[in-house]
Amino acid sequence: MEKHTHDILIIGAGLAGLRAAVAATEISNNLDIAVISKLHPLRSHSVCAQGGTGAVMREKDSFDLHAFDTVKGADYLADQDAVEFFVKNSPKEIVLTEHWGCPWSRTPDGKIDQRPFGGHTFPRACFAADMTGFHEMHALYGKATSYSNVKFYDEWFATSIIVENNTAVGLTAIEMKTGKMQAFQTKAIIMATGGHERIYEFTTFSHTTTGDGMAMAYYAGAPLMDMEFVQFHPTGLVPSGVLITEGARGEGGFLLNSKGERFMKNYAAEKMELAPRDVISRAEQAEILDGRGLEGPYGPYIALDLRHLGEEKINERLPLIRDVAIKLGGVDPVKEYIPIRPAAHYSMGGIRTNMKTETPIKGLYAAGECACISVHGANRLGTNSTAECLVFGAVAGEEAAKHASNSSFHEISQQTVLAEEKRVFDEILGNEGDERSPVIRDEMRRIMNTKVWIFRKGDELENALKEIRQLKQRFKKMKVEDKSRPFNGGLLDALQLGFMLDLAEVTTLSALARTESRGAHSRRDYPKRDDEHWLKHTLAYQTKDDPRLEYIPVTITKWPPAARTY
Ligand code: FUM
Repeated sequence: MEKHTHDILIIGAGLAGLRAAVAATEISNNLDIAVISKLHPLRSHSVCAQGGTGAVMREKDSFDLHAFDTVKGADYLADQDAVEFFVKNSPKEIVLTEHWGCPWSRTPDGKIDQRPFGGHTFPRACFAADMTGFHEMHALYGKATSYSNVKFYDEWFATSIIVENNTAVGLTAIEMKTGKMQAFQTKAIIMATGGHERIYEFTTFSHTTTGDGMAMAYYAGAPLMDMEFVQFHPTGLVPSGVLITEGARGEGGFLLNSKGERFMKNYAAEKMELAPRDVISRAEQAEILDGRGLEGPYGPYIALDLRHLGEEKINERLPLIRDVAIKLGGVDPVKEYIPIRPAAHYSMGGIRTNMKTETPIKGLYAAGECACISVHGANRLGTNSTAECLVFGAVAGEEAAKHASNSSFHEISQQTVLAEEKRVFDEILGNEGDERSPVIRDEMRRIMNTKVWIFRKGDELENALKEIRQLKQRFKKMKVEDKSRPFNGGLLDALQLGFMLDLAEVTTLSALARTESRGAHSRRDYPKRDDEHWLKHTLAYQTKDDPRLEYIPVTITKWPPAARTY
């Protein structure tokens, strides 16, 4: 088995990973940095971010206002020290990405323009039309590839983190072109692999967001935090689930039920279509459940009406979603409603880190959606994700660089690497069982979509947990038909499914345990927020048996929990 050696390994080449690479190299250009991604970086899910990146850019706005909006949006579960750090550092990232080539949309007098977004009391979404992530990624990729000490391993699939004495010392990865497993020795690893929303059937997420980094860190002994909090975006295009940006409502779009009513007046009279996502998704789901959804060939849906914005504005500010609606929804938003319904969109939970992005494993860092710092608590505000990737991607790069500069390499045990080869090639690829991964995967997604969705109940969650555990047993009897090594998509599907099943289990177990409703976690059987018992973060640890849950307090600095109305 070949071995590669780099001072820092960054797993994932989306916004957080690329930002980390740039930050690390700027700490020291003597460091040898590798970015490993199962995709070409510009196919990372970050390119799909549409509506904007949140930052305080105007005198009338303030850090305290952005922080308070974020804390209230989070239903008071966010760690407020992390939120304060985040809002103070976000504007700098907008300016840096601008210098690196991001073509931010402009006001007529040449300033970076900002549009309103849900739950924000000030228009603070900096945007590049409705292709914000696409442009940020191109700027960052250009910057990261300009350094000779950053090496890219595109289309390499990481399978496990190697930990010795609670220290991350290396990684195993499959080179997809050859199908060979290779070992990487390192002093620091940054996980930047994104979310796990593909555990759901109806999602805005790319097929590749399968939570690999979260699962690998969990297997390595790091806890996953607050995994019960999954965000449902109010406007997933029917039938594909592709994102229709909240920017469409920021520009003035309406949500209508089958009676043609702007029903948000009954749920969030003040904020209407610009209430936070948890509030709007619940409202849409309630309208559908009460029979006021519009009927279509793919089931009931809600109408997103942009017609009053006019063709010129739609073409200038929302060109991508017009194109997407025409090509994937068969409707032109200039003339027709867009059929939408809530779609799984974001994981507030992830690998637990402190504000330096350190995990409890020495030398292992995490940033972006795979991490939980926690800035978003129980519900993230739109625009705070791309901003978080930039702010904490930079922190991760800097911290990992400082750590790597003062550490030495540890030997990787040959036995550990051989055991991983045996697991992947003998036990998964070599298995001759009678189960198939697409069947198990579809079943998992159906369970998550029906029983661990927007409204949850104890008996349904218990049922879902039992069924997911049955799927984990069936997974052990799975056969990958194609036994060849190069570009074996069947093998990679199986590995991703293994990750997703464990993450679906943790998500469901954490949701079952939390007997309250807070942010995106809405229990029909416990409809109220319960600060006395549940103002705390969930930690999930892998054990030989079922996951073990523990709880830690929330950090409150300036904003004690209060009623949350919009
Ligand atoms: O609706 C959107 O454009 C999504 C933004 C976000 O998730 O922050």
